[in-house]
Amino acid sequence: ALGGTVAEPKLITATEPLLLNAVRGEEVERPPVWLMRQAGRYMKSYQILCEKYPSFRERSENVNLVVEISLQPWEIFKPDGVILFSDILTSLSGMNIPFDIVKGKGPVIFDPLRTAADVDQVREFVPAESVPYVGEALTILRKEVNNKAAVLGFVGAPFTLASYVVEGGSSKHFTQIKRLAFSQPKVLHALLQKFATSMAEYIKYQADNGAQAVQIFDSWATELSPVDFEEFSLPYLKQIVDSVKLTHPNLPLILYASGSGGLIERLPLTGVDVVSLDWTVDMAEGRRRLGPDVAVQGNVDPGVLFGSKEFITSRINDTVTKAGNRKHILNLGHGIVVGTPEENVAHFFEVAKGIRY
Ligand code: CP3
Repeated sequence: ALGGTVAEPKLITATEPLLLNAVRGEEVERPPVWLMRQAGRYMKSYQILCEKYPSFRERSENVNLVVEISLQPWEIFKPDGVILFSDILTSLSGMNIPFDIVKGKGPVIFDPLRTAADVDQVREFVPAESVPYVGEALTILRKEVNNKAAVLGFVGAPFTLASYVVEGGSSKHFTQIKRLAFSQPKVLHALLQKFATSMAEYIKYQADNGAQAVQIFDSWATELSPVDFEEFSLPYLKQIVDSVKLTHPNLPLILYASGSGGLIERLPLTGVDVVSLDWTVDMAEGRRRLGPDVAVQGNVDPGVLFGSKEFITSRINDTVTKAGNRKHILNLGHGIVVGTPEENVAHFFEVAKGIRY
């Protein structure tokens, strides 16, 4: 057999995005890193685009703009995840819930839903009909990013979506949705069920069109006490996860809830692959409380990006050390804040990408 052997052609296997390897618990040389709200108003390039296209809905519903904005942080920082530029409220128009996002005011739902009759008017979401630009944008992003990073989709969780549509916008005390929850729970459950069915479909649609992982934002679930979380959020999250896993068993699902310290042990019960923690939990404690099966994302305080470069570096190292060398996606504990110096964001990525376990 010696001599004359023909060299086997080297198989060129397409490399997978680091983020997917990390989520599965494979050995990786460093944690993948991306930042929530990495596209947006702290970026000069986004601000310039906003002058030309002042309407948030136009920026988030036009394929070319969605692609361009999603790629702005990718081109500058080369994160390991490229999240679709969109909003959790984008799906509402396809569910017969008119809304806008108004500069200086935030989300506005024109006719807040408060009664059984209001909930009856909510249509189940058919993404391909209502938001075809999302699928088109994801397909283009997947080609552009070409597995050098993971293309990330996202949806709003039922309770968080319900909080916007019942309150009529952002809220401080969540009085309207709590009134509904605690005086007419059946009405709220009917709404949550419509959102759960719809968001499961939306996740599948995003995956079918190019998303390689999908984050579920339950930003306001933590306004609920644990017993109420178990009634009004957890079952719907679990339903979404179960439904998606039936058809897309390998699609990683990430769950984010802000201020979730009191709920940490309950979050893996949803069946998600990754839990994203905010900075009010120590990463080492969070990691331990989540248990070994689930991956963890987070959790640097977005405010740290207003500190010195040395300070940013030390906080990254602290978080990475505490998270351990498997199943960690480095991220902030919530979205980047407006006014964050872009050069500090650049520093964050530079340090993060230079880490070696
Ligand atoms: O992470 C990313 O880069 C993707 C973009 C993204 C946006 N919204 C763009 C956006 C994501 C992931 C979201 C999700 C979202 N939207 C959440 C969950 C995340 C979280 O912060 O908890 C929530 C609660 C919303 C609802 C919403 N939309 C709020 C509270 C606001 C802010 C209002 C304001 O004026 O500050 C929005 C608007 C919005 N969505 C902006 C961006 C970049 C700011 C408005 C703008 O850029 O003109």
